[in-house]
Amino acid sequence: MISKATIDKIFSTIRVEEIIGEYVQLKRAGSNFKGLSPFHEEKSPSFVVSPSKQIWKDFSSGKGGTAISFLMEIENFTYPEALRHAAKKYGIEIEEDIRELTEDEKQSQTDKELLFKIHEVANTFFQEQLFDTEEGRSIGYSYFKERELRDEIIKKFQLGYSPEQKNAFTESALNKGYSKEILEKSGLSIFPENSPNGIDRFRERVIFPIHSFSGRVLGFGARILKNNIKTAKYLNSPETEIYHKSNVLYGLNQSKQAISKNNLCLLVEGYMDVIALHQSGIENVVSSSGTALTVEQIKLIKRLTENVTILFDGDKAGIKASFRSIDMLLSESMNIRVLLFPDGDDPDSFARKHPQDYVENFIKNEAKDFIDFKAEILLKEAGDDPIKKAESIRDIVKSVGFVQNALKQEIYLKEVSNKFKLSEQSLFNELNVQKQLQKQHVSPQQRQETQVKPRLEKVTEVFETINSLLMLEDKLVDLMLNYGDRVLDRKDDENKPYQITVIEEIINHLDEDECEIQSEINKKIISEIKEGIAENKLRFGNFFMTLMDEDIQGKIADALIEPYELSNWEKYSITPIKPGSKLSEQISETLFKYKRDYVLKIVEDLKKELVSAENKDEIYMKLVKLSQLKNKLSEVTHRIL
Ligand code: GTP
Ligand code: MN
Repeated sequence: MISKATIDKIFSTIRVEEIIGEYVQLKRAGSNFKGLSPFHEEKSPSFVVSPSKQIWKDFSSGKGGTAISFLMEIENFTYPEALRHAAKKYGIEIEEDIRELTEDEKQSQTDKELLFKIHEVANTFFQEQLFDTEEGRSIGYSYFKERELRDEIIKKFQLGYSPEQKNAFTESALNKGYSKEILEKSGLSIFPENSPNGIDRFRERVIFPIHSFSGRVLGFGARILKNNIKTAKYLNSPETEIYHKSNVLYGLNQSKQAISKNNLCLLVEGYMDVIALHQSGIENVVSSSGTALTVEQIKLIKRLTENVTILFDGDKAGIKASFRSIDMLLSESMNIRVLLFPDGDDPDSFARKHPQDYVENFIKNEAKDFIDFKAEILLKEAGDDPIKKAESIRDIVKSVGFVQNALKQEIYLKEVSNKFKLSEQSLFNELNVQKQLQKQHVSPQQRQETQVKPRLEKVTEVFETINSLLMLEDKLVDLMLNYGDRVLDRKDDENKPYQITVIEEIINHLDEDECEIQSEINKKIISEIKEGIAENKLRFGNFFMTLMDEDIQGKIADALIEPYELSNWEKYSITPIKPGSKLSEQISETLFKYKRDYVLKIVEDLKKELVSAENKDEIYMKLVKLSQLKNKLSEVTHRIL
């Protein structure tokens, strides 16, 4: 248990813009920062971070909250995990409240947490084997030395060694109290019937831990040492609850800062390519580790930059297969360049042969745009065959069809036209054919995207159908959250001046008329506020941020960060909240409008009741009274306006 004092210290030290800045490219927008949502595919930024309020709001998904809730969201951390992560980043020492864990808490140590833990244990084990055992040094360490890796780079990537003894790790983990079940789930151990003591999956291999964006070990890649053995060169962790290979890029954790700083991500094929480039000082590089690039992986890169250069081994037979990656990157609006290394070289060998400057310049100068790259590969293959040549051009135009920006598309088309001496018109026609075809084969990912996009547009519609009572209720809650402790000067019925806080005034009005709160979240917030009043405390703003209720957090972030679209409020002639002197009038106005709409709602409800009611007279009487009340309220609101 983290002590309350530590939690307070963490909250007062961390900066939401710094924590989020590691995941999202943030640009200043007035007093806030803006960026692309890390939770949704989007083209224009709807993700807002407020440094002054220390909160974030993602308008595309509706999520929002503190730096801590952001970490929970993006890393799948539990609350304590997120706190510990933030504390570590800011060098805050964690003070523990020492007490026994309750049964419930023990229970909630989920599989996922155990999986993270066992990977951490394994990672330490493999590194100790490499450095501290004779076998590790003479086999594993010397292998890395043969590949010219320096100690500091071995440590940076936490490389390790899994020994020959077939259950060395499994035995050590069992001794530490980890269960067979969790070892098996992690993929680190196998328990065949004839080997009850278990077998290490990665035995007799050097180990490459695979880290999450934030540096937790999710799985391992393991390379065999003898090149001629008839077994897979690399073994990787299987899919587990924490390792989904399509969502992970090797090296991202070590490279994220450099990618962001250089505004460019180099994409290579192998573990060793990432490591060798780092060793030579080029640190903006990741690898998809032998699997085809996925949209999820592209999104990971896109948080940091929109520019990717793909580096290919010179002798790779599979280059044509890479065309799919190019099209995917294009349809994710990435700018791409492609670099082929000279025959026989891969980034690893090339980086070891040449100094850093040379490699950097080589990448900068030799990388081609995708059109030149595809043309070179395809035309070489087509030779003089005119039919094949036409096929190649069609293939290139197809890629242009994936370019998202119309202007860019036109520029690329011009380039193709110049390159092949073909009219722009005929290429344009071909492009349209290709686009039709692409529409018919909408990928699942694209389909998802079109489902997301209308959500934003629908917001307006929803606002129009929802009755304005709800909007006004929201506005009252917003006023309390933003200005809860402001003091208002009022006069009572006898014209005697008195002072009251915003929270008290609004709560009094709601209580007085026993108004039933419509939305569940508002109900929760108001009951928290009332509890506070009972204890003589004003609960508003950041008070709610330390409550770990997801719904509430989203709502609070909504209230505290001004939305872009104030026009929806204006539709109901609700003026947006502007801090300052008008506050007092705004509150009265909102309260009156709220009451008027509340009366309208009761009238509507009664009318419905009337249809089947026996005591019709009684209801009529009520309706008449209510209608008078409504008129009075309307009068007052008119006067105020
Ligand atoms: P070396 O330089 O030979 O150590 O490897 P590399 O890291 O340069 O990898 P290579 O270019 O040979 O292959 C690219 C990536 O594909 C590797 O980093 C692995 O992630 C993956 N890979 C290669 N061989 C295998 C294999 O046999 N099985 C699996 N599952 N993945 C492999
Ligand atoms: Mn290699």
